[in-house]
This record gives sequence, structure tokens and C-alpha cells, in this order.
Amino acid sequence: MDEYAVSAEGLEKRYGDKRALDGFDLAVRQGTVHGLLGPNGAGKTTAVRALATLLRFDGGRARVAGADVRRDPRQVRRRIGLTGQYAAVDEVLTGRQNLEMFGRLFHLGGRRAALRATELLAQFDLVDAGDKGVGTYSGGMRRRLDLAASMILAPDVLFLDEPTTGLDPRSRGEVWDAVRRLVAGGTTVLLTTQYLEEADRLASRITVIDQGRAIADDTPDGLKNRVGGDRIEVVAREAADLPAIAKTVARVADTDPTTDEPERRVHAPVTDRVAALTEVARTLQDERIPVEDIGLRRPSLDDVFLRLTGHGTQTEEAA
Ligand SMILES: Nc1ncnc2c1ncn2[C@@H]1O[C@H](COP(=O)(O)OP(=O)(O)O)[C@@H](O)[C@H]1O
Ligand SMILES: [Mg+2]
Repeated sequence: MDEYAVSAEGLEKRYGDKRALDGFDLAVRQGTVHGLLGPNGAGKTTAVRALATLLRFDGGRARVAGADVRRDPRQVRRRIGLTGQYAAVDEVLTGRQNLEMFGRLFHLGGRRAALRATELLAQFDLVDAGDKGVGTYSGGMRRRLDLAASMILAPDVLFLDEPTTGLDPRSRGEVWDAVRRLVAGGTTVLLTTQYLEEADRLASRITVIDQGRAIADDTPDGLKNRVGGDRIEVVAREAADLPAIAKTVARVADTDPTTDEPERRVHAPVTDRVAALTEVARTLQDERIPVEDIGLRRPSLDDVFLRLTGHGTQTEEAA
């Protein structure tokens, strides 16, 4: 068996003059969650659709679940699942009926389809909701049902294209749990996301994509370290207090704090985030220095981009 469940070398996809994929490389280890992180328009969906045989690519090579994507697309299709940003489930049917319907689409036969539906409802924590109409489901429940539907035939490799975009934090957590359970069951997951935090929570490795090309491939910690990790941030009420605030922050920070005068903001990287926050808040209060805001900031996708490319995330709209 291959060490990699997904590998791509130099993938190219053009739409007219637009290079949606421009020499894209990827290697996803068996049995892991691999994050494909990038802003809107970076090429994530194009990459996933090309790897899932739904889109012909113009150049390069790719293997998925042990088969060559270009030469053996049928083989690939038999071994993968794909979940898009929008669920393809029927609103009127119950969760169970939807899963049974998908099962029959995959030629499972009535009894096996019903059995599989029961298993999947349990696996995705939808037992109570299973017999209610999908129209009554929350966003998180719908995404979980969508995940369950893509698992009818327990694929070797599952592509999840922005599975939590638009979900509230609680539903997002539920989807994350479902993804973890899938991987515990042996499935390899390629997950696209615009959230560094999501990739950090789920993935053991992250590829950052920009303009159709991989610009970094690293562990979540490696990536965060390059960006400088967590930061403490204090916004002063009075510009005159900035030096005193910088002095206080310096006592807990890993490097000299940065003072952003126009924003009246002092920030610095910290290792023990909660201790740093507590210490700075207490000292400022003791010294009666008024602050507008104080908090901890985790690095965002934008921070990653700034560090890797020298510019922020340029989405289509902004470019
Ligand atoms: N069918 C298409 N026709 C023309 N351009 C497309 C098409 N699909 C995607 N693109 C362009 O290719 C680039 C990558 O798109 P996409 O893969 O959807 O990015 P992402 O999923 O990361 O947001 C974008 O510039 C997008 O506008
Ligand atoms: Mg997309």
C-alpha cells in the first residue's frame, strides 16, 4: 500500500487565462486529516474536484487511494467520498430516509441500506434526530447528515470542502467531532478550510494554497511558529499611556512588544497565554492605567499569509 493516500505533482488547471491550479503539489499520509488552507479563490475546490475525478486537469499527475486519477478514474471513484459546502439532502425526508435513499443509490438493497442508515445515525450522533424531517435540523446537524451520506460505503479517502463554513461555533465543534470519529475508523481526510484554527484542531499536516500553488506544507505547530504563535494585545485609552503599557507587556512577552501608535495598540507574542493575560490585566489595574481593550489573539489565516507571502489574503473581491 502507498504511504500516501493522496499525492499530486504539478497539477495544472486553466480557465481561459486564469490558472486555477498552477503547479499544485500535495502529499497526504494514510489515516490522517490533512488540511488544505487558503482564502477564497485560492484553488481549494478546483484541487478537490480534480482529485475526486470530477474535473479534468490540464497537466500534472495525481494518485488517490492507490489509483491514478487520470488513467483509472472509476477505481478512484469507488474508493472516495466527497462532501461539498452545501448538503445534497432532501428537506422533506427524515435523516434516516435520506440515508436509506443514498444507500439504495449505491445499490445496497433495502435491508442493507436500512442497517447502514442506523449505523451512520449512531456514528454521527443523530439517533434522536433520525426520524425527524431534515427541514427541522440545525446547520450542524445537516452537515453531519451530509458527512454521513458521503460515508455510506465507508470510503478510503474522504474529501471535505469547507465543511464548517457558515456554521456557528457549536455546530462547528460537532462537525469536528464527526471528522475525528471518521479518521479513528481508518478513513483518510483531505479537508479544505479558510480557518487556521480549524486546520490546527483537526489536521496533523497543513498545506497552504495561494493562487493555485502550495506555498507551505508543515505541521500546525510549525506553521504557527513561523507566524509567531499567540499574541497578547492591549489597546490604550490614552496615547500617553502607550510606553507604560509597553513596559508592562514586555514583562510577560517572548520578544519586545510592538507599539502601533495610530491604533493605540501594543502587542507581543506570548507562550503562556492565560498567565500573560492575567498578569498584564492585574498590573495595569494596580497602576490605574485605563485600557480600551485587552485580549489574546491566535494567529489567523491572514497572519499566515502576511508571513508567507508578504501580503494579506487577497480574495477575488479585494484583488
Ligand atoms: N468554472 C470556472 N470557470 C472560471 N473560473 C473558475 C471556475 N472555477 C473556479 N474558477 C476560478 O479559479 C480560481 C480558484 O477557484 P476555487 O478553486 O473555487 O477556489 P477556492 O475553492 O479556494 O475558493 C478562482 O479564481 C476562481 O474564480
Ligand atoms: Mg471553494
